[in-house]
Amino acid sequence: MKMTGMMRRLVATAMVCAAPAIAQEGAPQPQPLPLATAKNSPLLVSADLRDGMDLSGPWHYSIDPFRSGLAGFHGEVPGVSQQRYLDLDVSKAMRDDNRALFEFDLSHSPVTTLPSSWLTEAPELRHYQGLMWYQRTFPAAAGRTGRYFLRFGAANYATVVYLNGKPIGRHAGGFTPFAFEVTGQLRDGSNQITIGVDSQASEATVPPPVTDWENYGGVTRGIRLIATPGTYVDDAWVHLTRDGRMAVQAHLDGPRAANTAVHFRIAALGLDVAGTTDAMGDWRATVAAPRALVRWSPEHPKLYDVTIAAGSDTWRDRIGFRTIAVRGADILLNGKPIFLRGISLHEEELGTDPTRAMTPAAARALLSEVKDGLHGNYVRLAHYPHSEVMTRMADEMGLIVWSEVPVYWLVAWSNADTLATARNMVAENILRDRNRASIGIWSVANETPVTDARNAFLRTLVQDVRGLDDTRLVSAALLVERSQGPGAPVMTMADPLADALDVLAINTYNGWYSPDRLADVPGIVWRVPAGKPLVFSEFGADARAGFHDIGTAPQKFSEEYQADYYRATLKMADGVKTLRGMSPWILKDFRSPRRQNPDFQQGWNRKGLISETGQRKQAFGVLAGYYADRSDGSEDAAQHRR
Ligand code: GCU
Repeated sequence: MKMTGMMRRLVATAMVCAAPAIAQEGAPQPQPLPLATAKNSPLLVSADLRDGMDLSGPWHYSIDPFRSGLAGFHGEVPGVSQQRYLDLDVSKAMRDDNRALFEFDLSHSPVTTLPSSWLTEAPELRHYQGLMWYQRTFPAAAGRTGRYFLRFGAANYATVVYLNGKPIGRHAGGFTPFAFEVTGQLRDGSNQITIGVDSQASEATVPPPVTDWENYGGVTRGIRLIATPGTYVDDAWVHLTRDGRMAVQAHLDGPRAANTAVHFRIAALGLDVAGTTDAMGDWRATVAAPRALVRWSPEHPKLYDVTIAAGSDTWRDRIGFRTIAVRGADILLNGKPIFLRGISLHEEELGTDPTRAMTPAAARALLSEVKDGLHGNYVRLAHYPHSEVMTRMADEMGLIVWSEVPVYWLVAWSNADTLATARNMVAENILRDRNRASIGIWSVANETPVTDARNAFLRTLVQDVRGLDDTRLVSAALLVERSQGPGAPVMTMADPLADALDVLAINTYNGWYSPDRLADVPGIVWRVPAGKPLVFSEFGADARAGFHDIGTAPQKFSEEYQADYYRATLKMADGVKTLRGMSPWILKDFRSPRRQNPDFQQGWNRKGLISETGQRKQAFGVLAGYYADRSDGSEDAAQHRR
């Protein structure tokens, strides 16, 4: 192929930039790409149900630990020889001109399958934390009409996107969707997309570097090229208000967004509400809920096909309708008190080498253990927003969800960028999932040390949650203070954030991280605010599946100790008058670099009730029995003995 003028210029530039130049004074500094946030970029709510081209599958990948594709060795704009995103046949350019130099060639680099984490791609990548480049090509038909968006389910952690050599944008955050409009950058025929994903955490990121889970770098959820008409429904929210009326709102984006006729329909209920958007492309309506409406519940997870037609676009979703509220110390689902029989989960599929690629089958396998195995009605999806595959599966299977952002442990409370990142995560999470009936609780933090700066940071997040969604409950997993009472330890919740929350939540590990004898655990005294529901958001003990100690005092990490720990802790729970739920830590053993006991952990946190391959431990049966007793709907703790 003859070298085009552009290629000649690139090759010439490559020669100049590749030479070990003396960094010129004032060399141009790299300008960060435009940052996509919930406020300034397409939301494409319920995009997973829209038509589009799935870009999952084979992608070339190439590591870049010193980030030389983003900045030169003095921090200047990188030379062309390092620009991974060049729209160029690199090997051909060097064959055609022996002066050209390129120190990358993604089209000849190894191939992986996305979505996945690179940690499981090759042994040498198992502990790689840094920048990874991905590249593939995809076709776009000639004569396209409408608009085109690249939508990422999630990429962990910082992402830059280039299309046909042009910068498209960047995103910060590893667990929420983001999208870029590429209508003007697509070309007929073959298009080249290059993505840079940097997994490196820092004191300013959310979460910070130290957590208790594996940091799976990569494009861990799907990438799709989504097509819409010129004017489309970018955001929509259909739900029951707290007083049981049917509310619908929609926001159109495009040249005909203003003053456009819209039709909200639920065919199964014979509901058809017409309206017109305002000058900003917004429409809201509230109508009486149809008498035939069957409310969503764990026992009867009824979902309805909902559409909003606007011009030539039809937005669709499958939505369940319910209310959730607190009244005194009770949690009410559809007006009735409920006890949340739950368990916590990390986003890791079953298997010895999870790569955080949550397929519907993988989600169903995990949630079936909760619903059918444990007789549960609730899951805490910790410690970050899980895949939409998981929250849709919870909708379908009937499990109430605690959804949270990774404001975890030592966050940089006084850093404005960190707060902006956390606020954006809250918004991206809620705007993605507020049509999910399963989600009942939004959580803003986990085990964060109490300081004035932390309180202000979290109060801002609580305020944001309530501004985006006034129909669900707000919580945070808190720590408690321990003191010695006359006859037993006393656990006191004195967290100033408690007064901003609807549901109080406590992580507690008496008898695992404390020297308490298990026999003393049931007698532990709890002092918590009386007028609010409390959930135990965590308690747990490690056990290596298959390790048994049948002595009278089984050692820690044995299945027997874990089972005894659950019996003792459940007895303690029965004595907490305002307890209205629990999500013990955790359903499945999960990868954590902090857990390195070579006999029992091998880099896994073993508090799972099942092993990483799904092998149930004795404690699974203890919790399942406890929930089976409660699943008769009786809420009186006193009636349940272990
Ligand atoms: C903490 C933390 C979890 C952690 C767990 C444990 O409470 O919230 O992320 O995995 O305890 O120590 O196992």
